Amino acid sequence: MSTLSPTAKKAVAEELNILLASSYVLMLKTHGYHWNVKGPHFHALHQLFQEQYEDLFEAIDEFAERIKALGHKAPATFSEYKGLSVITEDDSEEKDMGMVKNLLKDHQKMGDTLRKMTAHVQGEGDEATADMMIARTQVHDKFAWMLESHLTG
Ligand SMILES: [Fe+2]
Repeated sequence: MSTLSPTAKKAVAEELNILLASSYVLMLKTHGYHWNVKGPHFHALHQLFQEQYEDLFEAIDEFAERIKALGHKAPATFSEYKGLSVITEDDSEEKDMGMVKNLLKDHQKMGDTLRKMTAHVQGEGDEATADMMIARTQVHDKFAWMLESHLTG
């Protein structure tokens, strides 16, 4: 396998920027839900949200370091993240099951975004980034299942 061209590296880094920003916004949203969740499922959801934001915290570092390995600058401002993210913020007074539904949709969106990106970066010849994306797809699919399992009806 040949070295990636500068054009391929740039194309892959641009996809990783979106994943970095989206994971950051989702981490913040999940952390907020961890703090503000109320109701009979408080303990289980407080814990579940913590496991998820901790995972996202590690993922954003992996994405940023992969961007650096490809020779590009890793975005690190909220204004850039807001522009790049496929996940939207939530400043509403959401109820516990509303939080679960929102995060379920977000993890499904992350999974779908990752599946499309994986095919693209494979087309660019970057199997290392594709591997990372496949691993992240599995995590988002697992989190979606865990969230869905908390829904009662
Ligand atoms: Fe906490």
